[in-house]
Amino acid sequence: MSEEISSSPPTPKRKSLIGPTYIAYIHELLRKRNARNYMEVGVRAGLCLAGVECPAIGIDPNFIFDRNPMGKKRALHLFQMTSDEFFAEHDPTRIFGAAVDVAFLDGLHQFEYLLRDFINTEKHCGRNSLVLLDDCLPINIEMTERLHNPTARVDREIAEWWTGDVWKVVSILREYRPDLRVVPVDVRPTGSMGISNLDPTSTVLEDRYFEIVDRYHEVVMDAPEFEAYWAANKPLNGLEILKDFEMSRYFKV
Ligand SMILES: C[S@@+](CC[C@H](N)C(=O)[O-])C[C@H]1O[C@@H](n2cnc3c(N)ncnc32)[C@H](O)[C@@H]1O
Repeated sequence: MSEEISSSPPTPKRKSLIGPTYIAYIHELLRKRNARNYMEVGVRAGLCLAGVECPAIGIDPNFIFDRNPMGKKRALHLFQMTSDEFFAEHDPTRIFGAAVDVAFLDGLHQFEYLLRDFINTEKHCGRNSLVLLDDCLPINIEMTERLHNPTARVDREIAEWWTGDVWKVVSILREYRPDLRVVPVDVRPTGSMGISNLDPTSTVLEDRYFEIVDRYHEVVMDAPEFEAYWAANKPLNGLEILKDFEMSRYFKV
């Protein structure tokens, strides 16, 4: 009997996330927190932004709205530009007349972009503001590729999912900013990181930006790194967090 030798690479291991969708989670979190305002970097069709009820800012170089993004909001400020351009030319604190209360960073999925978005956003936060980073719990290694190449992916079922390497920002914050509170949350499809205890006066990340980018550019998500990252970032279920009305255990200092 001849043995068949398969030449196709094995399907990469998957982690599972079973919480609510990130959209349901964010909407409920904003309601429970009674959020004063909300800023979203990377809006696309407005899937998340449309359901936000407080005054909001949306930033995207290429909006492709397929719905009315206003929803129940009394004010919505849209900026069709990259987030770097937005932060260089506009001041969210002035637009809201207050610090940014909740920010959702979901723009370009390469870590140096998210790192800059975080640095720029934190400057407009108060200590108890909350920054949510999307896509920082990649459920397999393939989706962490820096350039999305769905045709080359082995796990065909989720070949369209792309987190890029924004997960590195979580490791960077843990390493360079141990003063921040980082809470990984199980929401589908690829997690949400809640960052609180923010310090708008901190310049650590900005001062060491190029050192950080050079170091982390070399890091790849291989199998040991994948397991180590998940072990360091065990997610809490999004529903559990939302049950705690004050959310003080998770996001307040
Ligand atoms: C994953 S989508 C955002 C999805 C949206 N947050 C939602 O929940 O439906 C990523 C978006 O980031 C935008 N984007 C790409 N580069 C960007 C940049 N430099 N600054 C801001 N947004 C960017 C893309 O145009 C795209 O619409």
